[in-house]
Amino acid sequence: MKRMIAVVIALLAFVGIAYVATRPSDTKTEKKAATPTVGILQMMSHPALDQIHKGIIQGLKDEGYTVGKNVKIDFQNAENDQSNMKTMSERFVNENADVVVGIATPAAQALANATKKTPIILGAITDPKGAKLVKSNTRPGGNITGVSDQAPIAAQLKLIRQLMPDAKVLGVIATSSDDSAQTQAKMVEAQAGDYGFTVKRYGISSTNDLNQVAGEMATQVDAVFVPTDNTIAGAMQTLIAATDAEKIPVFPTVDTMVKDGGLATIGLNQFHLGVSTGKMVAAALKGKKPATTPIHFETSGDLIVNLKEAKKLGITIPASVVEKAKKTGEVIE
Ligand code: TRP
Repeated sequence: MKRMIAVVIALLAFVGIAYVATRPSDTKTEKKAATPTVGILQMMSHPALDQIHKGIIQGLKDEGYTVGKNVKIDFQNAENDQSNMKTMSERFVNENADVVVGIATPAAQALANATKKTPIILGAITDPKGAKLVKSNTRPGGNITGVSDQAPIAAQLKLIRQLMPDAKVLGVIATSSDDSAQTQAKMVEAQAGDYGFTVKRYGISSTNDLNQVAGEMATQVDAVFVPTDNTIAGAMQTLIAATDAEKIPVFPTVDTMVKDGGLATIGLNQFHLGVSTGKMVAAALKGKKPATTPIHFETSGDLIVNLKEAKKLGITIPASVVEKAKKTGEVIE
């Protein structure tokens, strides 16, 4: 009898301990209701995507969500690895993140495959519809909406023509597997004739062949256009070394790539794209439905010129252009 009582007491003690041990997870769910979690999945590190990430935190703050105070961020960098993107996306879902954000197309696609329920906000995705992330840009329909970074291609071609009045052949270099870069390369090809350029396309499969392809391109073209290409954005030094050797200017689509050696652009400010994304994340946290929230397009870019690079190439940028960049955009000296 005594023994049985001892067993019962031991059992009760065990149940008590087990109860206490499992309690923290209850407190966690209670806390979760008060502090929402945002999962951010970034495809890889390069200066543009890093700026977008920073901007998202700022946009959330602007809307009243301060990290460490009333919002929790689970930030994951997939380092350009598809299987990382898949496991990280699934983890966000298992963790019950309240809203998830995909920075760059492959990250957004991995999230879309992982959940049809959790709101997904697109962080600078060039072509949400083409990437099969939404049914329509004005009425996305599912659990996805966000910000597109479609570049102002016509304005960029016009700028190239203004700075290079005699250029004939425009090289366009892009990574074959980068859907967003390919979309823009095709747009450039379609519109370049309007500005008097013939386009020559160059493809790379990874940074490994960038040096060789860029070197060959530099001997065959008068100027180079680089779309918002994730691989090249992370390897601008390699591209610029090859084109500088032939004194060929590179015109990228975004501010950070001009800072990294491009000559000029009318481009979207990457930090600002992030801020817009962060604001949409805040709206989703407050219950706004992605299905009926249109994709946000940034309409105009800033004029950015790199005078340091112009000097290297021996190209004179008209004073009026420099003045305009000083007033409305940015001059790199
Ligand atoms: N638009 C790219 C995508 O959809 C991501 C991106 C945003 C990007 N800004 C960029 C790529 C700047 C290169 C440079 O994948």
